Amino acid sequence: MDPIANPFAPGAGSRPPSLAGREKILDDVRIALGRIKAGRHAKSIMMLGLRGVGKTVLLVRSGELAEERDYIPMLIEAPEEKSLAALMVPQLRVVLYRLSKFEKARTLANRALGALRSFASVFKVAYGEFEVGIEAEPAFASGDLETDFTELLIVVANAARAAERPVAILVDEVQYLEEQDLAALIVAMHKIGQKGLPVVLIGAGLPQLAALSGEIKSYAERLFQFINVGPLDTTSARDAIAVPIHTAGEQIDVDAIELIVTKTEGYPYFLQEWGSHAWNTANASPISLSDVVNASNQAVAALDDSFFRVRFDRLTHREQDYLRAMAALGKGPYRSGDIAGKLGIKVTSAGPLRTGLIKKGMVWSPSHGETEFTVPMFAEFMMRVMPDWQP
Ligand SMILES: Nc1ncnc2c1ncn2[C@@H]1O[C@H](COP(=O)(O)OP(=O)(O)O)[C@@H](O)[C@H]1O
Ligand SMILES: [Mg+2]
Repeated sequence: MDPIANPFAPGAGSRPPSLAGREKILDDVRIALGRIKAGRHAKSIMMLGLRGVGKTVLLVRSGELAEERDYIPMLIEAPEEKSLAALMVPQLRVVLYRLSKFEKARTLANRALGALRSFASVFKVAYGEFEVGIEAEPAFASGDLETDFTELLIVVANAARAAERPVAILVDEVQYLEEQDLAALIVAMHKIGQKGLPVVLIGAGLPQLAALSGEIKSYAERLFQFINVGPLDTTSARDAIAVPIHTAGEQIDVDAIELIVTKTEGYPYFLQEWGSHAWNTANASPISLSDVVNASNQAVAALDDSFFRVRFDRLTHREQDYLRAMAALGKGPYRSGDIAGKLGIKVTSAGPLRTGLIKKGMVWSPSHGETEFTVPMFAEFMMRVMPDWQP
């Protein structure tokens, strides 16, 4: 059928034609936004899930819901190796300029801009030129990240309250934040919550994030409502395929839908990929079972070339071996000893490899001593991409 009219949208963060099965999560977001705006307490939200389940899409949608409720949203994606200060300063600056347009918040916003300026210079973040008249506020710069970031966020929040425009901080790929940066963010939000200030934090990341340690862990447990973002249930997965096709004025057979749901196991990214190829493969509506059978090979090939491939290419040969050894063991989660055994090396020498792979966001630890892929169906891909592997 006409590829130009194809409604499906495979791609990182691509808006799906139908955001299926996420009403409960979005309701939790609406409640938190509503409560914070009304000056009531609400936990920050942290969405955790594997790659391709739709976390970024949910975060973007949360930003829209926030904006509809008069929030000023700031969306941050934490890339590897970038500090919290470097991520926050330019965004907070935009927020503060917006707040300074409100007469009743101008003084506080300008003071916060001064604090931001001091913060940026102490943590050596390039921030460009500040407007004339914005004086640095050295009192905000002790050099201790937790203290300074907390103070900074409080002055920003005070300006937000004066303007009656709450701030929504949306952070994607939270797992890439250094532990000290995440700690500073958590401590700052904890203080904001105690003071009942109008700032809400909504984060998204890989599941390993829940494995924080020590004092920060207990803070985080009180601060966050952890939301598990998983594959779609069967009904929602069917909707994710059928609704966009019907909306486009076309049809798909029931057994064709069922095959897509089975093949994709309800993973949103895969649903988009299968839906897209099924549409393009079919000569005419309704899309049939045999269309989906034909489309499956293309969908797998497309995933191998993009979704899986980009992650594989970022690995060293030794890391590739490690993941291939996992795949050779069958279905996960995998025990460290078994993986090392498969590789023919000591557990102790496999340790650093595993740590590196966790840092890169390729694997995570569902429980002590266990390892699992962060990308669904990655084991099968590893078998395809390294078919003749020998330990
Ligand atoms: N609820 C949903 N229903 C159908 N498709 C979805 C849904 N959520 C996300 N998708 C699709 O899944 C893919 C991955 O979404 P993304 O937000 O990038 O996942 P993540 O951030 O968890 O890796 C995108 O192509 C998106 O259109
Ligand atoms: Mg994402």
